[in-house]
Amino acid sequence: MIADVAEVTDPKWWYTVSTLERNNSDSNNGTDLISGAANRFPDKCDADPEGARKLNVEATDHLVQAASARSILLIYISTDYVFPGAPGEAPYEADASPSPPNLYGQTKLDGERVVLDATKHTALGVVLRVPVLYGKAEEPKESAVNALMDVVWKAQDVQAEDAKINMDHWAQRYPTNTEDVGRVCKDVATKYLEAGDARSTMPRILQFSSEDRYTKYEICESFAEIMCLPIQDKLEANKTGGDPKVSVRRPYDTHLSSKTVKDLGINVQTQDFKAWWYECKYHKCCRYTE
Ligand SMILES: NC(=O)c1ccc[n+]([C@@H]2O[C@H](COP(=O)([O-])OP(=O)(O)OC[C@H]3O[C@@H](n4cnc5c(N)ncnc54)[C@H](OP(=O)(O)O)[C@@H]3O)[C@@H](O)[C@H]2O)c1
Repeated sequence: MIADVAEVTDPKWWYTVSTLERNNSDSNNGTDLISGAANRFPDKCDADPEGARKLNVEATDHLVQAASARSILLIYISTDYVFPGAPGEAPYEADASPSPPNLYGQTKLDGERVVLDATKHTALGVVLRVPVLYGKAEEPKESAVNALMDVVWKAQDVQAEDAKINMDHWAQRYPTNTEDVGRVCKDVATKYLEAGDARSTMPRILQFSSEDRYTKYEICESFAEIMCLPIQDKLEANKTGGDPKVSVRRPYDTHLSSKTVKDLGINVQTQDFKAWWYECKYHKCCRYTE
């Protein structure tokens, strides 16, 4: 999915680690690096804690050291899963105390700390927390949201005598489009690079989220409406607190306040979730129609 973010930003803003290392340059002319490499699957993090820590924390450390040595601004993409998401707590401001509900969130929080610590004297590290993402993808499985379109199609095979597909109708989610995240990354990079020494007075942890709120079941309902597919008697709305087959604890509501980004003068408007998917169907831009 992060490729989508790259697509909508000007290539001049992009450096890859390999480019950094190939150039072996100790300075740059005012560029930034956006880091999204991570194991972002809570279940896979639990299954391989050491691997998750290596990628989400140690690799981040390597990256921020390489960027800092070349005076490059690093924007580290983090997650709303750094917050516990207990009912009644959201929305979370950027300075709220994090307390991740699972190992994925903990490794991302540790990645944030590595970035902030390594850049505390230069302010060349910025954390940008985002919630669940959707957007153009080569395959629906690249996004937990896009993947639900596949579920709605598969549900069409469920017959009256079959068990319904269980779908979470408990956790509140705020699906945010990768094009919007890409635009915000570019605007953040511009602000921080242009600020020069004044950067040290700017916030180091930023948050950006859509205000569109859905449960996974409601997302499926929207997809069913857009594709004119029936889901009644095929999907079971589960209001009991997540999928009982999933062992990793997930939060109820981790809605992120976008105040820090807004206060920087950056536009926090987002695309309307359903309107984007209607457009997607109209232009047949994704493999979401049969
Ligand atoms: N997707 C979401 O809903 C969501 C929500 C909140 C925050 N985030 C954060 O946003 C960032 C990007 O997420 P995403 O959805 O774009 O994740 P993704 O689709 O799984 O992509 C992760 C990226 O990490 C790279 N990567 C994975 N393992 C690697 C390894 N061992 N060495 C080098 N690169 C490796 C992948 O490279 P290859 O393509 O070459 O495999 C890919 O470019 C992550 O930091 C995630 O924590 C995502």
